Amino acid sequence: MGNRKIVSEAVIKRLPRYLRHLCELQRNDILRVSSKELSQRMGLTASQIRQDLSCFGEFGQQGYGYNIDFLFDSINKILGTDKGFNVIIIGAGNMGRAIANSESIQLRGFAIAGIFDINEELIGSEINGIKVLDVNTIHEFIKTTKVDIAALTIPREQTKAVAKKMYEYGIKGLWNFSATDLTLPKDAVVENVHLSDSIMVLGYKINNN
Ligand code: NAI
Repeated sequence: MGNRKIVSEAVIKRLPRYLRHLCELQRNDILRVSSKELSQRMGLTASQIRQDLSCFGEFGQQGYGYNIDFLFDSINKILGTDKGFNVIIIGAGNMGRAIANSESIQLRGFAIAGIFDINEELIGSEINGIKVLDVNTIHEFIKTTKVDIAALTIPREQTKAVAKKMYEYGIKGLWNFSATDLTLPKDAVVENVHLSDSIMVLGYKINNN
């Protein structure tokens, strides 16, 4: 894992799926799995699995397969979720609340460190045990709390300016839910999430089935 290779987005996007399946095997007290068995569970080919994992190192042994705990821990290390990330949510509306209430996000190593909003009626309220703070206090907050990721769940018109400010405050990871593209310096890492894209892909598949 020491030598950094360029890994395709498609491979990175499959890593969480590997984790989900490995987690299920762990729950069933299974200790090892062959690439063939894993491929059948995941609907991939065995060679695809070997190819994906070989981007990051050697995890399996011929004739033995993969040690599930080892592979699970290794993928967590690759994703950085073994160390955990601190996330702040900006915008405590429907989407912000859904993230704050999501157990699976927190179980995967993303701790919600703070929730911020501009609306005085929301400031001071609690979501999943976390107090909503005034967005104007973010800078002070960041000075005392390590923040890796800002989830941007605010109206589209506000998103670019808020993203720029977060970047200037030193938050390099931006999880952007609004339908606007962010133009930030190269060291910013932006992940855009669009539920509507996903349902449109479904629509396409239904239409072309
Ligand atoms: P909402 O109206 O329920 O919540 C937005 C919240 O942001 C409000 O509480 C508002 O007071 C707060 N806000 C506005 N300006 C702010 C600022 N400058 N700083 C801090 N807080 C601020 O809206 P909802 O439904 O939660 O949507 C939020 C965003 O997510 C929108 O851009 C929406 O288009 C997008 N969205 C994205 C989806 C996706 O799949 N990516 C799905 C649904 C919504």
